[in-house]
Amino acid sequence: MKKESLRDYLPAAGRDWLLPLYDPFVKLLGFDRIREIFFARSGIKNGQRILDIGSGTGTLLIHIKRLYPDIEAVGIDPDANALRQAVRKSERAGYSIRFDRGYSDNLPYTDTYFDRALSSYVFHHIGAVEKTGMLKEIRRVLKPGGVFHMLDIDFSKENNKQSNGWQEDNSGPRVVELLKKSGFTGVEIAGEYRTFFTDLVHYRGEKL
Ligand SMILES: C[S@@+](CC[C@H](N)C(=O)[O-])C[C@H]1O[C@@H](n2cnc3c(N)ncnc32)[C@H](O)[C@@H]1O
Repeated sequence: MKKESLRDYLPAAGRDWLLPLYDPFVKLLGFDRIREIFFARSGIKNGQRILDIGSGTGTLLIHIKRLYPDIEAVGIDPDANALRQAVRKSERAGYSIRFDRGYSDNLPYTDTYFDRALSSYVFHHIGAVEKTGMLKEIRRVLKPGGVFHMLDIDFSKENNKQSNGWQEDNSGPRVVELLKKSGFTGVEIAGEYRTFFTDLVHYRGEKL
């Protein structure tokens, strides 16, 4: 866990010095491929405004811009190192993507700005109180009719039995309940995936 600006957060690879290994590791474990399938099932269209919460090294938004160049893509993450890497990668690829530094429960965007919000492999990085704050903020920045898609590890599954406290509230049924309690409608598990070691769930919720 890393302390910065009076707030704690868990960096992408758990430790700063491991960040250069994050992208290859995610690829090797098959998380990269599943994130692409998750995105393909998210029904994104050109011209939309997309927010990626906990955008990390920017891989998802770069993938999105490659497929849909007319999307307005914004990523937010508290980790300055990950943000630097994301900016480097997107500039190298020639895409215009805005990356902001910030936390999921305090999004620096106006109400109803985004058509879609996405988040992959982030929810288990944040504590129970912030999870509720994050969902509230996502609803605030989504337009009416906007949809939130989230991909994350399901820690209730046998395959994933381990817990370090940050993973509390990270089981499929609990996340569905949290999404409903936060006011999302049409909440559903839109996909379930399995890698060698991990069970992953795609959640979907809509803002009326
Ligand atoms: C496992 S990485 C996932 C990165 C990226 N979404 C992906 O699919 O590869 C988790 C990310 O969540 C970010 N994170 C941790 N706490 C956060 C918070 N409170 N708000 C937003 N992002 C957070 C970390 O900095 C890290 O980049």
